[in-house]
Amino acid sequence: MQKLTIHGGTPLSGEIQISGAKNAALPILCTSLLTYESLRIKNVPHLNDVTTMLKLLKQMGTNISIDKDSEISLTTTHLSNPIAPYEMVKTMRAAILVLGPMLARTGEAKISLPGGCAIGLRPVDQHIKGLQAMGAEIHIKHGYIHAKASQLIGAHIVMDTVTVTGTENLMMAATLAEGITTLENAAREPEVVDLACCLISMGAKIHGAGSDVITIKGVKLLHETTYQVIADRIEAGTFLVAAAASGGDIHLKNTCPNILNSVLDKLVESGAKIQSGEDWVNLKMTNKLQSVNICTAPYPAFPTDMQAQFMVLNSVAEGTSRITENIFENRFMHVLELKRMGARIEVEGNTAVVHGVDKLEGASVMATDLRASACLVLAGLIAQGETIIDRIYHLDRGYERIEEKLLSLGVKINRIN
Ligand code: UD1
Repeated sequence: MQKLTIHGGTPLSGEIQISGAKNAALPILCTSLLTYESLRIKNVPHLNDVTTMLKLLKQMGTNISIDKDSEISLTTTHLSNPIAPYEMVKTMRAAILVLGPMLARTGEAKISLPGGCAIGLRPVDQHIKGLQAMGAEIHIKHGYIHAKASQLIGAHIVMDTVTVTGTENLMMAATLAEGITTLENAAREPEVVDLACCLISMGAKIHGAGSDVITIKGVKLLHETTYQVIADRIEAGTFLVAAAASGGDIHLKNTCPNILNSVLDKLVESGAKIQSGEDWVNLKMTNKLQSVNICTAPYPAFPTDMQAQFMVLNSVAEGTSRITENIFENRFMHVLELKRMGARIEVEGNTAVVHGVDKLEGASVMATDLRASACLVLAGLIAQGETIIDRIYHLDRGYERIEEKLLSLGVKINRIN
């Protein structure tokens, strides 16, 4: 198993390019299941989750070619095998995104029920409820969701909770349904908007993506398109926090600051000086780092996927802060590892109280999920001495060429087997 070693203490300095967004690329790749024609998707990040999704699509019948760096062509002339097996769904919950398109295209779908995962229970009841409202017959047998619908019918669906992949799944299914579907209490995340824009470029009739009411008028067929995935706001946020916590000065290119406002506001509150343009952000840390309170909530509020990284920043900032996690029940697993590095954190229910200390100390730590891995990398690069991070396969699911990017920013980082 691979590990990362980091010698901390170097402020990040330099310029990097932000990759395409994992959480936008995954649903966008699934849109290939909705059409007989070819899609060309640009700015797809090289990540293990993307590879898993491509494997899944391939075994369902999609023809895939990697055209050039970050550019993928997909054609699903015949969706021969509408099954998503347990082996794939268990490694990546986002595999559930094939359910809606599979069902809309072929009238049937069989997909393994995702289990609980490290950060929480993460049920898929809203995906199922929405498809049932559109006329699908759904049974759960032997750990699999079996769905059937000779023709999905548009419906008015009020979602009980704001779910990103739930909104995406239903939006994709509704593009080929008969009549109009309305999704109320829909997720407003930029990745939902990016998926909607891709579907619109394929001929879908979608209004309201980015608001909490999305209306989709079903069409008979979708057609070919070329589409470019948006930049990854969580990758950008992670590097910005790394620069702030290390007292650095970095420039991000190929990014989208206008979808990062809640994170940029917290960085400014922590003492960072930020300048930005349409597709770039510059962060310079000259002031003393200040603690910031965080409350995670659906977009446009502060993203749960940035909570762990801010925990590191607060660990070495002046003052005491409260970090409240409102999306997932068990997303504080990084706390114990940070405490082993000298952080002073107490957890009270879904709130972590962080007392800033002068320094963290390098240690051997274990990554438990994707964003917790990023948090440990950040902790390693500001800690005194060497940090060894185990189980970094989580990191490779969501951060493209992370060592290469950190090396170019001056971090002493090394991957070992
Ligand atoms: C997506 C993101 C993930 C991010 C999360 C929250 C992708 C591939 N992943 O995950 O990075 O952390 O949004 O912003 O885009 N829920 C239900 N029933 C459902 C669905 C969800 O109760 O049917 C609950 C979940 O347990 C959770 C909350 O709703 O508490 C939000 O989950 P959801 O938005 O669905 O997360 P994902 O789409 O899995």
